[in-house]
Amino acid sequence: MKVITRIADLKRLRRELFEPVGLVPTMGSLHEGHLSLVRRAREENPSLVVSIFVNPTQFGPREDFKRYPRDTKADMALLEKEAVDVVFVPKADEMYPPQFNSWVEIGGLAERLEGASRPGHFRGVATVCNKLFNIVQPTRAYFGQKDTQQAAVIKKMVAELDMNLEIVTLPIVREPDGLAMSSRNRYLNPDERRAALVLYRALTLGRRLWDDGEKDAGKIRREMARMIQKEPLARIDYVSIAHAETLDELDIVEPPALVSLAVKIGGTRLIDNILL
Ligand code: PAJ
Repeated sequence: MKVITRIADLKRLRRELFEPVGLVPTMGSLHEGHLSLVRRAREENPSLVVSIFVNPTQFGPREDFKRYPRDTKADMALLEKEAVDVVFVPKADEMYPPQFNSWVEIGGLAERLEGASRPGHFRGVATVCNKLFNIVQPTRAYFGQKDTQQAAVIKKMVAELDMNLEIVTLPIVREPDGLAMSSRNRYLNPDERRAALVLYRALTLGRRLWDDGEKDAGKIRREMARMIQKEPLARIDYVSIAHAETLDELDIVEPPALVSLAVKIGGTRLIDNILL
């Protein structure tokens, strides 16, 4: 496994890689969710590049960039086991040298949900993914449905800016009790870890109401919110039932619908979603 920190070195190495090349972009602190992407990419591509970069430009000024968990040593051991060919771990000033000022801005669906709650977030995500795609020139890049809106934003960018790669999305990997795996779960103390289950329970409630014939999106949102509000450690950011492609909020629930939520558990902001 080659560990590369410089863009120029990776561009040079790229010429020697066998096609097709798979890329899994991550911010590290790897868990089984990340590894599901790595394994699929390993199966589908003779060459596999994984990037680990806690991207400062996608964090807001009052967000958790500084305390975001970093565990490069453990990450390297996990990636070695998955037979990854190349790990790209640039420093921040390698990706963003002084005076850096070129940005990729996606409109429409990127302005809703996470985009509305976290101004500038998707500009940072789109810009760093664009850079990674240009550096690695992957045949395919792999994204998780844990961040469904992110995957949709990246797909829109690739289509609208005529980029030459395929975006592959894979299902959410959950803990046995239903909590979606996330690097941020490491922030939770035992009480918060218990309280965090309310996200998946609320999503499950939404699905059950819909299965039982409820089509009024407002009613389902209110029932979900009521359940979350009963959890003292939880504070709702949003509960959304939206068209899965446009992310426009729905009045009447018809598939494909994305039920998604962002909830603060203590000081930790968690997101989760299911597709109807
Ligand atoms: P990060 O949060 O590290 O996630 C990297 C990839 O792993 C994303 O595509 C995410 O959707 C996926 N992932 C995370 N948890 C998952 C889970 N429980 N099940 C399935 N997939 C999961 O997302 C980012 O990093 C960054 O925004 C990035 C795309 C790397 C750009 O900086």
